[in-house]
Amino acid sequence: MHGETYWRSEIEKYHRMNLTRNIPMLKFLDTTHGIAEVGHRLFVACTNDYLGLRFHPEVIESAQNCMRYGGFGSSGARLTTGAHPLANQLERELAAFKRSEAALIFNTGYMANIGLISTIGCNGDVIFSDEKNHASIIDGCKLSHGKVVIYPHRDVNWLQKLLNEHRSAQSRFIITEGVFSMDGTVAPLPELLQLAESFDAHIIIDDAHSLGVLGERGHGTLEYFNVLPNSRIVQVGTCSKALGSLGGFVCGTKCLIQYLCQHSRPFICSTMLPSSMLAASSKALQILQSQPERVYRLKRFSEMAKSIFSEWGMAFPPEAIAILPIVIGDETTAMKIFENLYQQGIYLAAIRYPSVPLGHARLRLSVCSEYEEDEWKDALFRIVNTIKTIAGNSQGQFK
Ligand SMILES: Cc1ncc(COP(=O)(O)O)c(C=O)c1O
Repeated sequence: MHGETYWRSEIEKYHRMNLTRNIPMLKFLDTTHGIAEVGHRLFVACTNDYLGLRFHPEVIESAQNCMRYGGFGSSGARLTTGAHPLANQLERELAAFKRSEAALIFNTGYMANIGLISTIGCNGDVIFSDEKNHASIIDGCKLSHGKVVIYPHRDVNWLQKLLNEHRSAQSRFIITEGVFSMDGTVAPLPELLQLAESFDAHIIIDDAHSLGVLGERGHGTLEYFNVLPNSRIVQVGTCSKALGSLGGFVCGTKCLIQYLCQHSRPFICSTMLPSSMLAASSKALQILQSQPERVYRLKRFSEMAKSIFSEWGMAFPPEAIAILPIVIGDETTAMKIFENLYQQGIYLAAIRYPSVPLGHARLRLSVCSEYEEDEWKDALFRIVNTIKTIAGNSQGQFK
C-alpha cells in the first residue's frame, strides 16, 4: 500500500483507536484565558507559559519596538546575512543565566536538540538516552552517527551497567530532560554527574521545562541540585515555555559553541529568528530575574493543586512543580474527561499516543504563576469531580 491509500488506512486506524488529533482553535485573551471557535470562553489549565510572560506588556513592547525599527523577518541564516546585535546580547544573557561560558541560539528548542545531538554524536560514540526523553532528543539521536542506547526512566543503576558495557566507546554522552515534559519528574542530576565523571562522559540536560521553574530563582536543574556547570555539562533550553517567546539555545563551553557554529546544520542552514523574538526573550529573561516572586507564586499554586488532589487520594510525583500529569490510562476515557471539562469552560489537554505510550493517556495539568487564586481552586475542584465522575476509581493514578 502506498501514498493516499496507505495514509487513508492509517487515518481510519487512528480514528478507530480514538487517537485522532484535531487541531484546536484557541484565541488567547491573556495568559490563562482563551476563546474557542464557538465563542466559548475557557480557563486554560495546561499552558507552558508558566510565569505568564507571554502577555507581559514590557515583553510585547520590546518586540514591537524591535520590529518597528528592525523589520519583521531576518532574511537569512546568521552566518550568511548576519544577525541583529540582539542575538549576541541574548546569547551572553542566556550564558550568564545558565552560568556557562557561552550560548548559541537556534530557532526552536526542537532545533537546538537536533542541532546539538546530531552534530556531536560521531561514529564510534555512544549516546545514552532516557526512555522518556522528548521527541526532539529522539530525533537528534536518530540523526547522529553515534550508537544510541536507551536506559529506563531515571534508572542510574541500569545506566551504570550500560556505561560499563560501552567503556571502550570513543566518547559517551548521557542525555536527559531536566523536568520530563509528560511526567513532571526530575532527572537525578547528581547521580548522573557522578556516573559521567566515573565513565568520562558528557551530560546533556534539556531544561525546556525547568527554566523559570526549578531552583530557588528558576535557573533550572543545576540550581535545583546546587550543581555548578563544568565542561562535562551541556544545557539545552527554549524561550518558548516560561519565557513566553520563541527560540531554543545550547549553553556550554566556548569550544563546544564554536564547534556547533561551524558544524551544526540547523544553525548554519536555516533563517535566523526575527529580532523581535530575541528582544522579547531578552526582556522576559530580565523580568524573570528581577521578579523572583513569579517563581515563588508558581510553587505556591503547585502546592495548592497537590494538596487538593491528595485529599482525593491522588498523588503527583513529589518533585513535580509546573507539570502535574493526571494519568488516566485509557484514551477514550481521557478524551471524555477533556470534552466534559471543555463544556464546563476548562481547557485541559488530553495527551495520547504517540506523545505517551498507548494506554498511558493523561491530562497534562500545568501551573501558571498568574492564575487568580479563586479561579484556580475552583478549576481544580471541578477537574477532580469530573475525573471522579467519569473515570471512577479504576483508572491510572486512581488505582
Ligand atoms: C523537553 C522538551 N524539549 C524541547 C522541546 C522543544 O521546544 P520548542 O517548543 O521550543 O521547539 C520541548 C517542547 O515541547 C520539550 O518539551
